[in-house]
Amino acid sequence: MKEQVERICISVNTECNLGCKYCYFFNPENRILKESVLSVDEIFTILKNINEYSKNNYVKKAIKINFVGSGEPLINWDNIKKAIEKFNIIKVNEKVEFYLVTNATLMTDKIAKEMKQLNLFPSVSLDGYQELHDENRLTHNGAGSFEKTMNGINFLRKNNFRIAINTTVTKTLVKNIDNFFKFLQKNKIDKVIFDRLVDTPSDFEEMTYSEFYEFLLNAYRTKEKLNFKNIEIGNIEAYKKNFEGRPDKVCTMFGASCGAGINFLIYMSREVYPCGRMFGKDRWKLGNFEDDIEQLQNNMYAKIPNRQDCQECSLIKECVKDCLLEYEEENYSCEPRQKFINKLKIDLYEK
Ligand SMILES: C[S@@+](CC[C@H](N)C(=O)[O-])C[C@H]1O[C@@H](n2cnc3c(N)ncnc32)[C@H](O)[C@@H]1O
Ligand code: SF4
Ligand code: SF4
Repeated sequence: MKEQVERICISVNTECNLGCKYCYFFNPENRILKESVLSVDEIFTILKNINEYSKNNYVKKAIKINFVGSGEPLINWDNIKKAIEKFNIIKVNEKVEFYLVTNATLMTDKIAKEMKQLNLFPSVSLDGYQELHDENRLTHNGAGSFEKTMNGINFLRKNNFRIAINTTVTKTLVKNIDNFFKFLQKNKIDKVIFDRLVDTPSDFEEMTYSEFYEFLLNAYRTKEKLNFKNIEIGNIEAYKKNFEGRPDKVCTMFGASCGAGINFLIYMSREVYPCGRMFGKDRWKLGNFEDDIEQLQNNMYAKIPNRQDCQECSLIKECVKDCLLEYEEENYSCEPRQKFINKLKIDLYEK
């Protein structure tokens, strides 16, 4: 059966009001080139193409469109809002859902209300309590952004949004995971998605692939131990979907399987790539923002390796697809992922 594109990220700008220490897009060693902001018409062109694509019979799952990427989307909220309003006039079905990832420092009551009206689900990048968050998420003057981010969350709460956060995993978080979950519980955070730090500036200590999987398991066990049943860990829910045979093929960093280029596309301003980490690399470029979605997906088929090791693996059903970029690393081994999947299966279904 033909594979479906199920998630599309759109990066509308290359500008940010913060300068987080770990941010890959503003890494001075690999700084993203400044592009002009996508206009309402350009965003609408992408949405029109998605509308056309959604008419295909094989498109059964909702297509999640997420405004996220190389900057802060709320700086250009007006363009996003107007493009969605135009899309709502021409949309042919209910197969498209809108999301947005933001640092929330520019959130206002008005924006929260507009999001509610557009049925767009925001997710806030919050690294935890003040000490954790302000360790890295700073303004260009070096001030912490915690209070402004929490203020933004309050506007969302006031407008009856479920509060979902994206948290990057740092060494400090690993050591303080109990306190992190206690903070979430106290502040009525409904959902967290843990994000593995990659491609950071060289003076920033990243976690290895294996450390990230150890962390995920420990985070799940800590939450269970604390009996915080109301807090959802998005990554673990994604693995459950894999185990139950209905995977979301988006990205192993936020979900459980890699869908780069086949199930997942990212528009980095006007260029389209299989994954944000491939941005600017000619070898991976799939096309431009005006291209048909199916054409972009077809361009990817020629680029993906045929993995024999996966065909022979006992976990093929549960793993679905590991990160394509990890696979290309010199010393790649999927052992940490296999170990994690086996242990999580026992925790979820046999304990
Ligand atoms: C690049 S930001 C863009 C949206 C918005 N400015 C924000 O911070 O939410 C999207 C997400 O990527 C995360 N992120 C930033 N640098 C990262 C890195 N080096 N590795 C992995 N995730 C990173 C951020 O914490 C945030 O949750
Ligand atoms: S707010 Fe987002 S885009 Fe801006 S520096 Fe921080 S992580 Fe990067
Ligand atoms: S290649 Fe890796 S980082 Fe990119 S979408 Fe796939 S899993 Fe995510």
